[in-house]
Amino acid sequence: MKAVVWRGDMTLNLESVEDARIEAPTDVLMRVTSSAICGTDLHIYEGRMGEVNGLVIGHEPLGVVAEVGPAVASIKQRDRIVVPTHICCGFCYNCVRGYSASCLMSNPGSAGAAYGYPGMGTYRGAQTELVRIPFADANCLRLPGEPGDDLEHDFVLLADAFPTGYHATELAQVSTGDSVAIFGAGAIGLLAAYASLLRGASEVFVVDYIPERLAKAGELGASPIDFRLGDPVEQILEQRGRKRKRAGSTWRGEDSMGGVNCGIDAIGFQARDRANPEREKPDQVIHDLARVINPNGRLAIAGVFLPNDAKPVGELAKHGDLAVPWQTLFKKSITIGMGRDNDERYNTQLRDMIIAGRARPGQIVSHRLPLSQAPEAFKKFDTRTDGYIKVVLDPAI
Ligand SMILES: NC(=O)c1ccc[n+]([C@@H]2O[C@H](COP(=O)([O-])OP(=O)(O)OC[C@H]3O[C@@H](n4cnc5c(N)ncnc54)[C@H](O)[C@@H]3O)[C@@H](O)[C@H]2O)c1
Ligand SMILES: [Zn+2]
Ligand SMILES: [Zn+2]
Repeated sequence: MKAVVWRGDMTLNLESVEDARIEAPTDVLMRVTSSAICGTDLHIYEGRMGEVNGLVIGHEPLGVVAEVGPAVASIKQRDRIVVPTHICCGFCYNCVRGYSASCLMSNPGSAGAAYGYPGMGTYRGAQTELVRIPFADANCLRLPGEPGDDLEHDFVLLADAFPTGYHATELAQVSTGDSVAIFGAGAIGLLAAYASLLRGASEVFVVDYIPERLAKAGELGASPIDFRLGDPVEQILEQRGRKRKRAGSTWRGEDSMGGVNCGIDAIGFQARDRANPEREKPDQVIHDLARVINPNGRLAIAGVFLPNDAKPVGELAKHGDLAVPWQTLFKKSITIGMGRDNDERYNTQLRDMIIAGRARPGQIVSHRLPLSQAPEAFKKFDTRTDGYIKVVLDPAI
């Protein structure tokens, strides 16, 4: 079968690899109909996670069951399924408490496993034709319809981006009437904005500097903030202040609450320096968020921080350390949540939102391309050129 294989920094090839097969009685084999590229794949692509020669990349597949292991109880051949990025067993101490991203059985000796991800088990990646799905009863989320139907792009985002965006809003406790500031308008930031609006937020700001991504945030119903036009925190305070002024005496002593109730980091360690976006400045966003979140606000960090960065921008960044403005966060009594998405907590409910026509996350997909075009697609996605926001690869074309 064909697969997208890492062969060096910024170098991916489409290669023939041995077919995936059933390895344990609890496995199924999935024939992939869509496989999305994620911002997380870029960390690997750029060599930030070190040498991973031969790694099959990808962790966001949607497809159809091709073969079923003898111990699988609830899944049958030809079922349409999506599986979560974070592989879970469904029965360990963490899975049963809803922390499926910290499964203890999928990558023994560690907490958490994923497809095509260094340090998270030996599972091959999903940018390929056939994927082995372990612990199939726990991982396979069954879906209605046929491959290639109107919901194909909505459903493929259930593998990671939609539940992760939603997870960020859960960590930030976004609720009815809340104001939210999201840094990063990649798939995660955009779907965190979308999820915030689904949860009843009154106002959602999305900060970035890539025009197509900011435009998409606007299409979703958020207020785009372009940091090239000035300090994004000042822009948000100014916009909020203008609205407060219009509301006049409705407000009582709330002038010092000119920021937002909820803040979300949807970027992680590769945050750009606002003064020079060519450069990285890993602590840029935490400082901006600490300034913009109101006293008693909530902060969610969904962006990834690596234990070892192979190309760190400074001494602290080598091991994912950060200079964090604890004093400001403490003084404001800000609640902080962070980490990997426990996909299993949300994917059934989000699937049902899609089926009911209440959520269309697929509207953020910018490109659908053949698997063979993955190397070029990565290049454009990595440089954010030509409107590459979220790319879905199709192994059948
Ligand atoms: N927690 C999880 O389970 C989980 C799951 C999936 C992805 N992630 C992580 O989420 C992050 C985002 O993923 P994505 O697919 O949206 O990636 P992406 O690379 O497409 O998007 C990141 C965006 O951040 C913008 N950006 C960079 N610096 C900025 C700054 N200082 N201010 C505002 N915007 C800035 C970039 O221009 C880009 O549009 C990545 O770190 C990814 O690894 C986490
Ligand atoms: Zn992903
Ligand atoms: Zn488990």
